[in-house]
Amino acid sequence: MSNKKGKFYITTPIYYVNANPHIGHTYTTVAADVLARYHRLIGDKTFFLTGTDEHGTKIEEKAKEAGLSPQKFVDGVAAQFELAWDNLNISHDRFIRTTEAEHMAAVQNALQYMYDKGDIYPGKYEGLYCRGCEQFKNEKDLIDGKCPDHKTKPEWMSEECYMFKLSKYQKELLKKIESDEFKISPKERKNEVISFYKNEGLKDVAFSRKNVKWGIPLPWDKSQTTYVWADAFLNYLTGLDWEGSGKKSPEFWPPDVQLMSKDILRVHATIWPAMLLSLGLELPKELFIHGFFLVDGQKMSKSLGNVIAPEDLVKKYGVDATRYLLMSATSFGSDGDIGWEFFDEKYTADLANGLGNLVARATALFEKMEEAGMRLKNNNQLPEVWGDFTCIFDIDNTWESYKRKMGEIALDRAPLYLISGKINDKEVQSMIAFLDNYISTTKPWELIKNKDERTEVVMYNVLERTRHIALMIYPFMPETADKILEQLGQSKVEEIKDFKRAMEWGGLKENAKIKKGEILFPRLDK
Ligand code: MSP
Repeated sequence: MSNKKGKFYITTPIYYVNANPHIGHTYTTVAADVLARYHRLIGDKTFFLTGTDEHGTKIEEKAKEAGLSPQKFVDGVAAQFELAWDNLNISHDRFIRTTEAEHMAAVQNALQYMYDKGDIYPGKYEGLYCRGCEQFKNEKDLIDGKCPDHKTKPEWMSEECYMFKLSKYQKELLKKIESDEFKISPKERKNEVISFYKNEGLKDVAFSRKNVKWGIPLPWDKSQTTYVWADAFLNYLTGLDWEGSGKKSPEFWPPDVQLMSKDILRVHATIWPAMLLSLGLELPKELFIHGFFLVDGQKMSKSLGNVIAPEDLVKKYGVDATRYLLMSATSFGSDGDIGWEFFDEKYTADLANGLGNLVARATALFEKMEEAGMRLKNNNQLPEVWGDFTCIFDIDNTWESYKRKMGEIALDRAPLYLISGKINDKEVQSMIAFLDNYISTTKPWELIKNKDERTEVVMYNVLERTRHIALMIYPFMPETADKILEQLGQSKVEEIKDFKRAMEWGGLKENAKIKKGEILFPRLDK
């Protein structure tokens, strides 16, 4: 199996600290974590960046409401984000905050570079501005005169400011997007962006504000502060300790995947890459746009009272199950509907009755077999004990399709064949369902009673396949993976020296010290 090693740089958006972490932020961050863990697993040198976006009017206002200085306020909320990610076992390599002195200095250097080059020039902005998005709006973007995302009327702004020559980069960017040199996924999102370029086109954009105090002052005109998005985008560079000096790019540059949802795609597909061209830096390889979460069909909002908080999920299902439930809830890339009932059912079916039960059953049977004086026998062939059991889960093929799905960022699909076995409501057999069924039909407890030798091969197959399941679920449920491996007498995932070898058949030794352990996914209280 090929296992080409490379580097992998992945980012999430940096989240505004005007709200505490919610399930939407959690979704993006867990997805990025799954990818980061997967790439580390296959040996890529990986860097995973997340953080907080801390400047701008919105935040200034929130601080005022809370009766705190902006800095005190952002320190408090940023700490909430860090805590939330720790609680979800997020393995980011760096948590960047836009109020860090190094970030601010680098932003100033970068803007100075663009100004000296003539890409930033004094001008005047007149038009509509939505404070919710911190974005300039065209009439066309509005529904009934309101911002569709924030349901508020944008305000008319007329201000002397400095403008960025976004229009200059229209042609070059469109070409790179069309050719996938700067890839936007999924396809529908790419098409949306292309039609925006063709129908509306890139217009120069205000890059500074006169009346916003909570921002990074422009180095050549301290009466103005940097437009919050320009400040925010540069986190993807300063998070790698870039100092803002133009052409020289950091080791991990460019990002391999930048994850986000559609609310912020347009700015990421226009202003962001144009800034990079202006700075003489390579563009990200791919923007991957995942769907938006709805709760029982409705947009999550405080006023509807349907907000599902990440900490409530963790309290009910545990960390790993929460990660799994989020990732498998919906086809990654499309909008998805979630709700407590849905999560309860999925938890019970996939984890308590599925994965957890299989591990408990298999290890208990092993103990019985050992007591009866039998041992495991490595044979990659399921004996046809009763009935016709053709195993569709050839290990090499399963790994290949798993790796393909992970490469395509089909994060809901990758664990599908292992655990849930449902594609668009169509049942396909999952590896777990197959093994369960196999055990029920072969009845190893009877084989053991009869000292039937076939038990040794049946049980080797079940346990060895369970080992592969543990490795494959690791990016999604890292602690569960290690717990299963421990029960199978194996070393923890991060201690595996030769992962390529571990992905092959036969990693489970015939004399492995297997022991039944704690219940992985306790049943939910009714
Ligand atoms: N600060 C900007 C991003 C700057 S990046 C240079 C911002 N922050 S945000 O806090 O509003 O976060 C937006 C991101 O949160 C979305 O792109 C998405 O990743 C995630 N989500 C927020 N709500 C969501 C859902 N309801 N569903 C799925 N993800 C969503 O925009």
